[in-house]
Amino acid sequence: MNILILQASPRAKGSTAWMAEEYKKAAEAAGHQVTLVNVSRKKIAGCLACEYCHTKGNGACIQKDDMQELYPLMAEALVLAAPIYYFTLNAQIQAPIQRMYCVNKPAKVTKMALLMSSYSPGVYDGATAEFRDICNYWEAENMGIVTAKIDEQKTDATLQKIIALAGKL
Ligand SMILES: Cc1cc2nc3c(=O)[nH]c(=O)nc-3n(C[C@H](O)[C@H](O)[C@H](O)COP(=O)(O)O)c2cc1C
Repeated sequence: MNILILQASPRAKGSTAWMAEEYKKAAEAAGHQVTLVNVSRKKIAGCLACEYCHTKGNGACIQKDDMQELYPLMAEALVLAAPIYYFTLNAQIQAPIQRMYCVNKPAKVTKMALLMSSYSPGVYDGATAEFRDICNYWEAENMGIVTAKIDEQKTDATLQKIIALAGKL
């Protein structure tokens, strides 16, 4: 199966980057083809709501930024990896999600998973609700969520959860 991981933390050696790397390793060990993109290093603007895509654009976005690289990479499985900023998924992951507006839903995506990091416990409800709604809207199977608050980051217990999540594919 082809898998696309969108990693949205700007901290290259942070918890979210580690989770994304470990998911990639586990999925590759199971024989999947994985592409990992650090979207925090990309220039991806927010949706302009100009409706060009739904009129003259015929499904194409008018903004020619780094999002153009991501549209063709959309795979059967889409894994979102993001830190929590102010009780929700950070802006760097929201931009590519919301830029899918031009196609309404990514046609190839049938399975999704979510990896999240935070400092505190109990801060995942908003992001979890958003993720569940997006899975439903995109008609993708919710494969599950792994979270890591500060004392769970880069631990063996979290690694085992990531390996189990990747094993569900
Ligand atoms: C702008 C900003 C907002 C944050 N907001 C929260 C928050 O609401 N709740 C929380 O527990 N941690 C918050 N954090 C902490 C990060 O979620 C935490 O450090 C996380 O481990 C970062 O993951 P990373 O190392 O992969 O970047 C925030 C960090 C930043 C930079």
